[in-house]
Amino acid sequence: MKRIEELSDQAPLWGALCRQADRVSFHMPAHRQGRSFSHELIDSLVHCDTTELERTGDLADPSEHIRQAYDLAATYFGAGETWFITTGTTTAIRVMLAGVLCEGDEIIIPRAVHLAAVHAVALLGLKPQFVMPADGRRFDDGQPDAASFIAAMRSHPKAKAVFVTCPDYYGRTIDLQIIAAEAHRLDMVLLVDEAHGAHFVAAPDLLPSTALSQGADLVVQSAHKTLPALTPASFLHLSKESINDGRICPDRIASMIRVFQTSSPSFMIAASMDLARAVLSHADRAPWHRLIELNQCLADSLPPQYRRISLSGSDRSRLVIDYSQLGIGRAEMVQELDRARIDAEVIDHRRVIFIPAIDQPEGDYDRLSRALCSICPVQDADNINRHLSHLEELDKLRDALFSARPSWQSTPRQAMFGEALSREASCGQTSKVAENVIAPYPPGMPIAWPGERIDERHDTYIRKLEELNITVRR
Ligand SMILES: Cc1ncc(COP(=O)(O)O)c(C=O)c1O
Repeated sequence: MKRIEELSDQAPLWGALCRQADRVSFHMPAHRQGRSFSHELIDSLVHCDTTELERTGDLADPSEHIRQAYDLAATYFGAGETWFITTGTTTAIRVMLAGVLCEGDEIIIPRAVHLAAVHAVALLGLKPQFVMPADGRRFDDGQPDAASFIAAMRSHPKAKAVFVTCPDYYGRTIDLQIIAAEAHRLDMVLLVDEAHGAHFVAAPDLLPSTALSQGADLVVQSAHKTLPALTPASFLHLSKESINDGRICPDRIASMIRVFQTSSPSFMIAASMDLARAVLSHADRAPWHRLIELNQCLADSLPPQYRRISLSGSDRSRLVIDYSQLGIGRAEMVQELDRARIDAEVIDHRRVIFIPAIDQPEGDYDRLSRALCSICPVQDADNINRHLSHLEELDKLRDALFSARPSWQSTPRQAMFGEALSREASCGQTSKVAENVIAPYPPGMPIAWPGERIDERHDTYIRKLEELNITVRR
């Protein structure tokens, strides 16, 4: 057998990933490419990559040690029941929607949700009712406020569920408690995509409140995004009150797990989720306090052209920096961070999102601070103003598209999986119909859902993003 190093030329994917080894990770997964794990743990994890045997059990039919792990997680996260989904929140969202909704049911949902939710709506043949802003207003980054959710629920009382993403990619949260109260008054269930908030439970006085504590009925969380767990790990939580009140049916959820989860779920990922929960429940709030302080110190160390974005109620363990006042473009920011061998989660046209891990070393912050401080701002005021007005135009276009009224030409299911209609229509030059989600990626929030008409504004926005080297999924 050849030694592994000798194979890296012949295994290009393996080789490329190995060359990532000495970079600083400010992105998910939050185990920092394994640096959060001891060598002993890494070896043991590989031994956990096994199948369903008499002694290992079945993740989709939990008993003994699997039942215990699920129960410990449910207790820690404050759920009535918890499942480990080892194919990510993408799968968990499908299970969540299929667990409470039937074909043709209405769901209140913002346009700007993760594309996994759009695909789930299309697959299940649901009828989306978009959350719309009041006349003349636009949602920043497409994220509605609680009042707009409530208005949408009242306008569509036949809907069976309301779907909220909280926190969003930038760490912003909204008041779920009042949405839950109104949903329950109207006989709807509240489904929360808390993909970026699995850590909230760890430090309730420092981090935002969890969705479960605010009355959500079903919640999904990507463990790997903010906890030291392997990718793609997702917790699916069922609220205790919702089970007791009969708002959700645990058996139906269990049967949907068997539909959507692979028949070879990864014990290695599941074991890493069990461990991440154990690590978290033994740590106190200190690591989160440290992270919040480090984020603030980093922000304080930067020249005034940088602005940290941290709205009230947002997740302060996340670091979002607006670099637009430097006057430089996205390509330059990408290049500068790359030169410092730092990987951020996302760099958009004006913001960088860093996702620090619970054990992010201080040295990484020093390197980041040095890298950001070394970037020279553009000196010419006219150039900066031109640059800023260009970014503002882009923001306006984005928010207009994210806040636009629906323009359905077919249902999402017909557009994605049906025949003819959308394809014929999509050949026309003047009025095209999206056959798939059209979304800048990451973060994967659609400017058009499948089945919607696309016009010049979409084309313009897509062109502008592609000029910035931002990928658009379609
Ligand atoms: C808000 C949100 N929901 C769902 C997902 C899908 O999660 P996963 O990658 O665990 O499948 C993502 C992924 O980035 C996300 O950002």
